[in-house]
Amino acid sequence: MKKIIGLVAVVLLLAGCGSEKSVEVPVDKAPVEKVIDTTTPYSTDEVMKHATNEDCWTSINGGVYNLTNWIAQHPGGVGPIQSICGGDGSGMFNMQHGGMGTPQDTLKVFQIGVLESTSSAEVDPASDPVE
Ligand code: HEM
Repeated sequence: MKKIIGLVAVVLLLAGCGSEKSVEVPVDKAPVEKVIDTTTPYSTDEVMKHATNEDCWTSINGGVYNLTNWIAQHPGGVGPIQSICGGDGSGMFNMQHGGMGTPQDTLKVFQIGVLESTSSAEVDPASDPVE
């Protein structure tokens, strides 16, 4: 009798091992990263729609930049950035920062696209000041 009980116990134990379920992460719950495509073309009209401190886009030397989250951090103050929101900041940027590494590197971080009819290969924040 004991043998039979032992046998039943082993069988139940083995059957239990196979009942483990694998945990699957549903595909729709997977984290999705927002990727910004810096080759996205924007028209000057689209840039013009973002002309305030709370929503500030500018174009500089063919690139389009969203400076909204950075205006208050500009070492040269809010004013100069405010004045180029919604428009083309190439002249002012080149005059003040042409040839300076740090402002150009900072600018790259905020690029969201290119001005329509400008290919991404033509965008050059380091270009010479406009004459
Ligand atoms: C829109 C893009 C701009 C970016 C990314 C930018 C970035 C910077 C950075 C990184 C600095 C610090 C420089 C350093 O410590 O070496 C700076 C300083 C300054 N910026 Fe800008 N800037 C921009 C536009 C402008 C404009 C349009 C003006 C005025 C026309 C301006 C005027 C200044 C001034 C007066 C300073 C402080 C003095 C200096 O360090 O040269 N900035 N900017």
